Amino acid sequence: MFLQSVPRTARLLRLLLPALPAAAMHRSYTLDVAAPLLRTQAFIDGRWVSAESHFPVLDPATGSELARVSDCGPAEAKQAVDAAYRAFHTWKRVTAKERSHLLRKWFDLLTEHKEDLAKLITFEAGKPLRESLGEMVYSASFLEWFSEEARRVYGDIVPSPATDRKILLLKQPVGVASIITPWNFPSAMITRKVAAALAAGCTVVVKPAEDTPLSALALAELSQQAGIPPGVFNVVPCSRAQTPSVGEVLCSDPLVAKISFTGSTATGKVLLKMAASTVKKASMELGGHAPFIVFDSADMDVAVAAAMNSKFRNSGQTCVCSNRFLVQSGVHDLFVDRLSKAMGAELRLGHGSEAATTQGPLINSRAADKVALQISEAVSQGARVVRGGRRLDGSFVEPTLLTQVTPSMLCMKEETFGPLVPILRFDSEDEAVAIANACDVGLAGYFFSQDPSQIWRVAEALEVGMVGVNEGLLSTPEGAFGGVKQSGLGVEGSKYGIHEYLQHKYMCFGGLKA
Ligand code: SIN
Repeated sequence: MFLQSVPRTARLLRLLLPALPAAAMHRSYTLDVAAPLLRTQAFIDGRWVSAESHFPVLDPATGSELARVSDCGPAEAKQAVDAAYRAFHTWKRVTAKERSHLLRKWFDLLTEHKEDLAKLITFEAGKPLRESLGEMVYSASFLEWFSEEARRVYGDIVPSPATDRKILLLKQPVGVASIITPWNFPSAMITRKVAAALAAGCTVVVKPAEDTPLSALALAELSQQAGIPPGVFNVVPCSRAQTPSVGEVLCSDPLVAKISFTGSTATGKVLLKMAASTVKKASMELGGHAPFIVFDSADMDVAVAAAMNSKFRNSGQTCVCSNRFLVQSGVHDLFVDRLSKAMGAELRLGHGSEAATTQGPLINSRAADKVALQISEAVSQGARVVRGGRRLDGSFVEPTLLTQVTPSMLCMKEETFGPLVPILRFDSEDEAVAIANACDVGLAGYFFSQDPSQIWRVAEALEVGMVGVNEGLLSTPEGAFGGVKQSGLGVEGSKYGIHEYLQHKYMCFGGLKA
């Protein structure tokens, strides 16, 4: 067993954990996972590889160091790309059935080790343990789903205009895929991409976020145990300082055919520019700014429960978190009152490993500063704080509810990525849809109504890639996850996700005698 004790300071905790029992303040936090799952070297060509230097991985709740991980640079990234390219030539010939079996074994191992894998997420990302376990089920589900989809990649035989020719459309894997993933779902954002890629017959090089490499390396360990051949799945962790040069190799090396990225729109644009130099295929799952619209006809129980789920999942740090709350005048006061009570009753700040915790820290103090700025800017413009409002020590922020919000406030103009609910009152459906669509991203959107005509009108009118109708949680491997406008390119999950890693080859079979 790997045991690492992370002492916490009483001073910090008195500020951070007002809702936790005093006894909890004198305990240490211990990352306790089975040793083979705690990997700190890069994983290249089926081997564990040390880089020249190392970077620390911190517990965002305490700032304590959890591990030191190999800090890969362009040389290791190139090594990984070369290994993936070599492996591609054999992996693409492995039958779909065998690839499916290997992905299924990997799924079984994730399921078997989900408790330990969840602890890794909680310690490196700050996510409450219950949610980390949920992420592990979600993460494993992509391996299961794409192990099934691997065997359903059919081509087409197309009616030919000439009797001496047959027309076939083959689907073939694109090649090596560079997979660049975020810290907010350290495991699931990897499997959502990698399972589709491997099922299609592609090989991958993964660059996990610098904050959360441990989950990615644990996935590598289990890929090896599952029997995924060397070079098919590679992981090159690196620090923030090395990220641009590693990213450059992964996005511009001629041996890479495809990039897939989840993260901010700003970074996505930089990666797309790099990938343009060698005309790579790209999938981008970028920022969102989800509207959450409550119409007068909404079922209040459903709307409040959905707001809690959608807003406070991962302390508000998901691309699909509701970000702009638009509430119709007739139910405005009732919704505010009910949501405020639910926040008071259900949300508890603390270290993710504490059973009572529902809200962990934000990933770092820059993230907390951003939320604090949105709150103070809104208040300075006339917003009213109904609940919360304080930036606490470390990277904790109180779950906050603001009313009297206007479209010109920062929180209505940019993604928050934190536990802030800004509520804007509206009068008509047209007004709400216009406000919801007045932005340059369109990932998820949610609305609450019991009127079937309104449901169809608004679902079709919202400029988003995913819409929750009387529902605040959309994510599942069966659904097509992706956005419109500057929220990205392509979809992940669903029967379409695998197509992001395939290309069509048109085969014209001529000279046939009647
Ligand atoms: C994300 O925040 O990028 C992904 C969230 C999800 O898959 O639900």
